[in-house]
Amino acid sequence: MAKKAPHETHGGGVMEKVVSLCKRRGFIFPSSEIYGGLNGAWDYGPLGVELKRNIKEAWWQAMVTERDDVFGLDASILMNPEVWVASGHVEEFTDPLVDCKECKHRFKADNLEGDRCPDCGGELTDARLFNLMFKTFVGPVAEEAAVVYLRPETAQGIFVNFDNVQGTARAKLPFGIAQIGKAFRNEINPRNFTFRSREFEQMELEFFVTPGEDQKWYEYWRDQRQRWYLELGLREENLRLREHEKDELAHYAKWCVDVEYNFPFGWSELEGIADRTDFDLSCHTRHSGKRLDYFDESRKERYTPYVIEPSAGVDRSTLAFIVDAYVEEEERTVLRFDPRIAPVKVGVFPLLRKEGQPERALEIRDRLKRHFAVFYDQAGAIGRRYRRQDEIGTPFCVTVDHQTADDGTVTLRERDSMEQSRVPADGLVALLRQKIFGE
Ligand code: GAP
Repeated sequence: MAKKAPHETHGGGVMEKVVSLCKRRGFIFPSSEIYGGLNGAWDYGPLGVELKRNIKEAWWQAMVTERDDVFGLDASILMNPEVWVASGHVEEFTDPLVDCKECKHRFKADNLEGDRCPDCGGELTDARLFNLMFKTFVGPVAEEAAVVYLRPETAQGIFVNFDNVQGTARAKLPFGIAQIGKAFRNEINPRNFTFRSREFEQMELEFFVTPGEDQKWYEYWRDQRQRWYLELGLREENLRLREHEKDELAHYAKWCVDVEYNFPFGWSELEGIADRTDFDLSCHTRHSGKRLDYFDESRKERYTPYVIEPSAGVDRSTLAFIVDAYVEEEERTVLRFDPRIAPVKVGVFPLLRKEGQPERALEIRDRLKRHFAVFYDQAGAIGRRYRRQDEIGTPFCVTVDHQTADDGTVTLRERDSMEQSRVPADGLVALLRQKIFGE
């Protein structure tokens, strides 16, 4: 039987259960919670930060390390404000906003059905445009000349470095520049847990191509990116591609397709793959007076490359991987993460707190932790210890018992099947490497 989204198999309330598990087990906390939190800001706890790192690492591995045509970048968040004038963000990066005259709640005008407040039925103000960029000031004087923006996308850090990277890497078209980093948007209504936040992380690739070859590369990246989510374990029936209608396209895009996930709150965007044409390089060339173009040695001509952009949200992918992994069984709740992204790879336990079992288990823990994220636990009944690991998605548990002292074997317990087998403690590193990474 095909596995369904958790909300389809477990009924409603799955999002609440996931949010509660994330809080209770240390994946995600509200930001500055002891002061009542900050709307649209979240903190990743000990397990959340490992999961998020693994997802970013898997992206970097596929997009940079395993390719020879993509180069990495880590640009600053604060940039010269002219960047955002040139890119069109100062002018165009806006949402239409309305206020309720009664309850004072704020809404994005394009999400509203009628002209009355969806919360209290009150009268709404006319829509006005609201720029989503956060402003701040450089230097001690808070005057207009010192205004800078927190970047609303990492992409512009890539475009303004086009020449630096192309020149230093001696890159030939087609080639890409990849970056992972924070972005900030003053969203009118942050909602759905981390899905729409005001501070979030993006994983973006700008892949530069010869004009005329853009459609081919657009299709290539659309397929690559869809496959990436599936290979890391998202269920096929919970993932779909959706082409944008012409009137939905961002100001820079010729075509765009979203990778969408079937969240409990409906199909929603994880990633957009856009053909941004030569829009950005041309805007920055015009605005800065510095040519951002390319000399094609085989064609003996100079032109401005087109760019295909797969732009993914780290927080949204992380949430999708958690929701997709969440399974309630009769006796237990399990996060069935792909072992490569699981925050803890191996739980190590002594069956009993005697007969030298804890000492032997700690030795094994110390050996394994040079290779994997390991969790050691010696408290409570073994069944309960296994279930605590199931709930955070640990794919393997290793238990030392009385037989270990006799023949050097331990019990290896697998999360999904709950099957247990006896294996030599000495071969654990190689065995787990094989099971986790397929090495
Ligand atoms: N450079 C193109 C760009 O920024 P976007 O569709 O506005 O395009 C790309 O954003 C991705 O960034 C989205 O698909 C989403 O995963 C993530 N993202 C955007 N806004 C977000 C928000 N408020 N909270 C969390 N993630 C967000």
